[in-house]
Amino acid sequence: MHISVIGSGYVGLVTAACFAEFGLQVTCMDQDHRRIAALESGEIPFYEPGLHDLVGKGRQAGRLTFTTNLTQAVEQALVIFIAVGTPPRDDGSVDLSAIEAVATGIGREMTSYKVIVTKSTVPVGTGRQVISWIESSLREPVRFDVVSNPEFLREGSAIEDFIRPNRVVLGAERDESVAILKDLYQPLYLIETPIVVTSLETAELIKYASNTFLATKISFINEMSVLCEQVGADVRLVAKAMGLDGRIGSKFLHAGPGYGGSCFPKDVDALVATGKEHRCEMGIAKAAVDANVRQKTRMVEKIRTALGDLNNKRIGVLGLSFKPNTSDIRESPSIAIIRLLLKEGAHIQAYDPEAMRETAQQLPELKLCSDSYEVSVDADAIVLATEWNQFRNLDLERIKTQLRTPIFIDLRNVYQPARMAKMGFQYWSIGRPSLPPA
Ligand code: UDX
Repeated sequence: MHISVIGSGYVGLVTAACFAEFGLQVTCMDQDHRRIAALESGEIPFYEPGLHDLVGKGRQAGRLTFTTNLTQAVEQALVIFIAVGTPPRDDGSVDLSAIEAVATGIGREMTSYKVIVTKSTVPVGTGRQVISWIESSLREPVRFDVVSNPEFLREGSAIEDFIRPNRVVLGAERDESVAILKDLYQPLYLIETPIVVTSLETAELIKYASNTFLATKISFINEMSVLCEQVGADVRLVAKAMGLDGRIGSKFLHAGPGYGGSCFPKDVDALVATGKEHRCEMGIAKAAVDANVRQKTRMVEKIRTALGDLNNKRIGVLGLSFKPNTSDIRESPSIAIIRLLLKEGAHIQAYDPEAMRETAQQLPELKLCSDSYEVSVDADAIVLATEWNQFRNLDLERIKTQLRTPIFIDLRNVYQPARMAKMGFQYWSIGRPSLPPA
């Protein structure tokens, strides 16, 4: 079967490459000529483990092709995935102009039955809007169906999440389109992936409900970490014991500097905005957002307490991306904290294995180091902001000798307080008692 994916960003490219891996004939279309030219020459515009090889494999097998031509992408395909950006507006609502432009374009080009699938995260009601955008742009009467098939891909493990998902959600109006979509996901039957078939509206809400619930879980444990610090408890053990309750589960209970990335902050805000629009107060989602904002400010307070004062202090930061295994710095807590520290007069020197280029564009005043160790040279403190694996086994003796004062602030609870104190560090972490250096 031939399918097309419109949009070659993160979601679009992973979707296209994985469907090609499933044996389908895939055309990936983007209006950005430079991006398509780069993809055609084998260049992937962002870092995602395994994606470079998977795109290469699809191209070599002749199953994955790139184009800037919408007519061609529509003509060849029975199923067309829309995976274009849905950026947030200032009031938290979602800007759907790219979806509208693509839906209208598809409508104009359509001459035979198509299934149009929204893959991008879109607010409830968008599927129906897509139907009317297509209907109003058709040049001739053509049958079509619209399906909502939200993605649940995590950056850093997107390919694994695509080929071994916990579930596939299909929101549709008619059985014919569901049967076609189920065919695309045929390889998942072997691993017995549950397929949840719903209405368009339910599918759209499932995505927001899932992300908001996970964000709330993180905000909950982050708030608990503050209480733990006040009463001398250990949040890691609180989370561990909570997680052993099968009804709670252990995932997404790691206290840290707050959630970031391209999805959680945007999606939780969008759910709050949708609630407002329908006069339905989303109080828990709002509280999760507030707790997340507070968490970042608390991190700066923690660093200030550790250093006494921030003005003119030199601080080494390890990790810039919003989480490990990605070059993405969108809504990264590390970047937010660095901005607040700079405002207070601190000098920052930082290192990240993948996100240096992106950071240099956004924060040119930052001193970027060439490795994990340069970050501690002559610094008054070191802050571990993103838990990349290569920061988990640092040569701590080397870092201690390079620092002006042995202050280590671990915003991801990577190291053990007792061990760090024994090594002579003033060690600060999240929701765990700080021990004085031995
Ligand atoms: C998320 C969803 O997991 C995915 O299903 C959806 O499609 C897109 O949004 P992603 O943004 O890639 O994926 O990152 P994720 O791994 O979920 O982490 C989000 C943020 O939460 C990161 O900033 C991470 O550091 C933080 N986090 C996660 C915690 O602070 N504690 C945790 O226990 C888990």
